[in-house]
Amino acid sequence: KKSVDDINVKGLRVLCRCDFNVPLKNGEITDENRLVAALPTIKKLIADGGKVILCSHLGKVKTEEDKQTKTLAPVAKRLTELLGQEVKFVPSLEVVDDTVRAAVDAMKDGEVILLENTRFRAEETKNGEAFSKDLASICDVFVNDAFGTAHRAHCSNVGVAALVDTAVVGYLMQKEIDFLGNAVENPVRPFVAILGGAKVADKLNVISNLLEKCDTLIIGGGMAYTFLKAKGYEIGKSLVDETKLDYCKEMMEKAEKLGKKLLLPVDSVMIDDFPNPIDDPTIATTICDADKMDASKEGCDIGPKTIELYSEAVKTAKTVVWNGPMGVFENPVLATGTKAVAAALAETDATTIIGGGDSAAAVNQLGYGDKMSHISTGGGASLEFLEGKELPGVAAANDK
Ligand code: 3PG
Repeated sequence: KKSVDDINVKGLRVLCRCDFNVPLKNGEITDENRLVAALPTIKKLIADGGKVILCSHLGKVKTEEDKQTKTLAPVAKRLTELLGQEVKFVPSLEVVDDTVRAAVDAMKDGEVILLENTRFRAEETKNGEAFSKDLASICDVFVNDAFGTAHRAHCSNVGVAALVDTAVVGYLMQKEIDFLGNAVENPVRPFVAILGGAKVADKLNVISNLLEKCDTLIIGGGMAYTFLKAKGYEIGKSLVDETKLDYCKEMMEKAEKLGKKLLLPVDSVMIDDFPNPIDDPTIATTICDADKMDASKEGCDIGPKTIELYSEAVKTAKTVVWNGPMGVFENPVLATGTKAVAAALAETDATTIIGGGDSAAAVNQLGYGDKMSHISTGGGASLEFLEGKELPGVAAANDK
């Protein structure tokens, strides 16, 4: 794939698609990792003397009111600080209109502007031609650095790429593909994959694909209880997807056939009722072995024996990929398993890759960010990557 290192953007208008879809609270950015991760490409384009036109979506835009709250204005402000150079915000409800064209025409080499939320144009998520053409009309070169959005085929990452002469990927996109791609296709072994999260249904293809690629697959989180039930265990009031019991049995058989280790919890942290509010720290817990779970209780985290088992598996690994929390980590009392797995990854010399979303947030909150080899900026995108799918955003830039 061609990257920003393969082109010379001096004096050219460069449209750079980033994923600035960051969480906002009262107009303040609460997690700026995606902005920081985008800086190397932006700095490179500035240093090369390009006219840098940044664009991104922010959240889902369904109503007119969303257009008030989901503006990229706070991103322009924070990027200006992070870059130490003005990122001029050029807001338009049309994203590209005559004011934007005029602003682009007035740009000098090395200047940076940011367009408004691409989803303000309804065609964006339908990959409609008119908006793709508008975007293509304001640039000479297209750079796609939005890994977090690579599983979507939208105007601003796929449609526009087809309409320009030069489309390449940025450093972040390249780094994500290198880390995730190497881990899955060419891992240094033993390769241990850890999957958590609430629902088996969200991870069906990830489980199946990773079983083929890894040496050990570890399952935790809410979805582990469907596996435990499929094994014939009592799981009480724990989360279960009855429609996926056969699937779980199939995966356990697949592991055996392929000679892979599939590790499931051997004990569980149990509670009487789900905490309300979810972060209620006064909730009472007991520990049960996985084959002796109390029928009146609900499992909400992996227990101490499981922590030991999973930590041991991580210790002997050379490559570890982790996606999804081990328990209800929003609650401090039910976050022990997730914290322990994060700590195990922080301690190992193995290549450690965190596949976005909740596990990335957990690792960063715990201060282990620097200890990981790579923390993906993609939630859905990294999961689809781990499923072995070709991502449309990556494919579009590669077709050139
Ligand atoms: C993400 O946060 O996963 C990406 O920015 C994509 O956002 P979306 O799920 O709204 O398409």
